[in-house]
Amino acid sequence: MALCWLLVICGALCLSTRPLSATAQRVEQTDSEEDGRFPCGQPPSIENGSYETYNHGASIAYLCDDGFMMYTFGGRKRHCQDGRWSGSTPICSAGGCSEEDAPTVENSSVQRFNGGTVRFHRCNAGFERQWGGSMVIYCDGARWRNEPGRCVGAFSSPCGQAPHVENARRTKHSNGLITYTCEPGYRRRLGGGSILCSADEQWIGSPGVCTRLF
Ligand SMILES: *[C@@H]1O[C@H](CO)[C@@H](O)[C@H](O)[C@H]1NC(C)=O
Ligand SMILES: *[C@@H]1O[C@H](CO)[C@@H](O)[C@H](O)[C@H]1NC(C)=O
Repeated sequence: MALCWLLVICGALCLSTRPLSATAQRVEQTDSEEDGRFPCGQPPSIENGSYETYNHGASIAYLCDDGFMMYTFGGRKRHCQDGRWSGSTPICSAGGCSEEDAPTVENSSVQRFNGGTVRFHRCNAGFERQWGGSMVIYCDGARWRNEPGRCVGAFSSPCGQAPHVENARRTKHSNGLITYTCEPGYRRRLGGGSILCSADEQWIGSPGVCTRLF
């Protein structure tokens, strides 16, 4: 009996010292019936899959049809946040495409997922992804899907490749400005050390040259 009371008192003490969040659990329940009203609008559909809705249409979780494997970009759930659906729609992939027919992305390396039915491309060093196309190619059970993206030289632009300057390091900034920094022991002459591709596709500015200090 005494042992029982000891356990009760200890239990109460242990619980009371715990942070509240550790004991509070969020209960998630599938919406019993689809009421057709989504606070963020109709969720993006998934090919060869479906979604379940939760929290009165404010959360969804994707599922793949039988025979398909899921590849997610950070999870299979999406939530209505600030009027938009969070995250991205996963992919449902399946075998049935031949490796040789898979679209390739030049100057990239490929990682295979879902038994090789999903191919994720990453641009090689010195190259960067160009807008348009996708770096994820997958087999939908019959064909390879997605238009492959492109990896272009990190210093390419509508003006062409940014000029290379001997003994200088190029840096591309988010605003498109390319700056040139002379290697140690060299000093810049005859130019401002930065260039920018203008709207009419002409380089503005001059990278200059890097000459030895002594
Ligand atoms: C997968 O989805 C595509 C596009 O909706 C459809 O044409 C195809 O028949 C589906 N495949 C299977 C096995 O259901
Ligand atoms: C980039 O791809 C092109 C076309 O395949 C190739 O000629 C070139 O050598 C590649 N560049 C590098 C640095 O891998």
